[in-house]
Amino acid sequence: MSDASYRIEVMHGVNLDMLGKRDPALYGTLTLSELEQHIDAFAAELGLRARFFQTNSERELVERLHLLRDDADGIVINPGAWTHYAWSIHDALEIAALPAVEVHLSDVKAREPWRRLSVIEDLCVASVCGQGMEGYRLALQRLRDALDGAAA
Ligand code: DQA
Repeated sequence: MSDASYRIEVMHGVNLDMLGKRDPALYGTLTLSELEQHIDAFAAELGLRARFFQTNSERELVERLHLLRDDADGIVINPGAWTHYAWSIHDALEIAALPAVEVHLSDVKAREPWRRLSVIEDLCVASVCGQGMEGYRLALQRLRDALDGAAA
């Protein structure tokens, strides 16, 4: 049974504020604000409460993760390029100690070799890549399943 009060922090990292101006073949045509409206609707359909956070500052993302430990039930995170090298974000996600799902709009495993490493993958209950906007719906479903499983 789902709990409509699950608080889900949807986190976007570096350069994701530039959606709409980035390569549409990789990232689609939506701006970040348009994408967030869709994610908000997906969350509502699933009985989840989405909140949004974007930053281009690694420090701000780390500090936000520190606060989430006591302020959210789950995390959907697309760290952008930080995914591939920012071990500080790995450690902060570990400190947050919440169920998390990783999302990438593009198929990072099929692009340049340096994008194949995700430093957060081991901390996430699922990773969704290359599904564009729909990837966020899948991520929210996986997160709700994990939260329901933990509550059962
Ligand atoms: C991305 C993939 C990253 O490799 C890239 O640096 C991004 C976006 C994605 O959503 O596909 O900025 O996380």
